[in-house]
Amino acid sequence: MPNITRIVAIDGPAGAGKSTTARRVARALGFAFLDTGAMYRAATWCALHNGADLDAPDALAASTEAMELVMNETNGEQRVAVGGVDVTDAIRTPEITRLIYKLDQNPAVRRRLVALQREIGARGPTVAEGRDIGTVVFPEAACKIFLDASLEERTRRRARELESKGVAVDLEALRAEIHDRDEKNRTRRDSPLKQAEDAVLVDTTDMTPDEVVDAIVRLARERL
Ligand code: DC
Repeated sequence: MPNITRIVAIDGPAGAGKSTTARRVARALGFAFLDTGAMYRAATWCALHNGADLDAPDALAASTEAMELVMNETNGEQRVAVGGVDVTDAIRTPEITRLIYKLDQNPAVRRRLVALQREIGARGPTVAEGRDIGTVVFPEAACKIFLDASLEERTRRRARELESKGVAVDLEALRAEIHDRDEKNRTRRDSPLKQAEDAVLVDTTDMTPDEVVDAIVRLARERL
């Protein structure tokens, strides 16, 4: 069982800034950083790589069960390897993003990844971010944050991020895609995205990244 007093759990919808925020909070506190979305992405990459039938829940469960996943984090930079192949960049493609829902709603896939997340959390103080960290993975965490922002603002942020990488963006299509992913995350039967009862809501719509990080670090220092 992880030392729950030393876990900061950050959940929220796509584009709320969880990853960047969690990485910076981890650095400020001297904690490890765990991006759990990367694990669902890696499981999706692995299933595609294995040629698994993405519409066959048993095949997805077997592929994830057999996956040799190594998460390595140094100085806030997380690298992800599957079967010895570094997939850190390969798991960020639009194709993977579009297909993850086929795995993230699979209870056997979630069980395996949650067990791994708990193992990683048990290694030491950790800032973990995802969709079900405060509700399912570390329900006893002493510091839980639900990071949110309006759909418009989240779409703008994601567009800026993509444009900075030279990717052309269709704002309407992007907004629809984020909305669709939110709906799938919030309505799935197993571990839907929702704010834990004891989580603090931080609405980042009108906050700068520095303000968000400062607010969470302050809260974590109070609670941990
Ligand atoms: O945070 P992200 O966009 O990299 O996450 C990718 C997908 O993984 C997201 O659409 C929902 C899923 N996910 C999940 O179901 N549970 C988590 N703890 C983290 C991510």
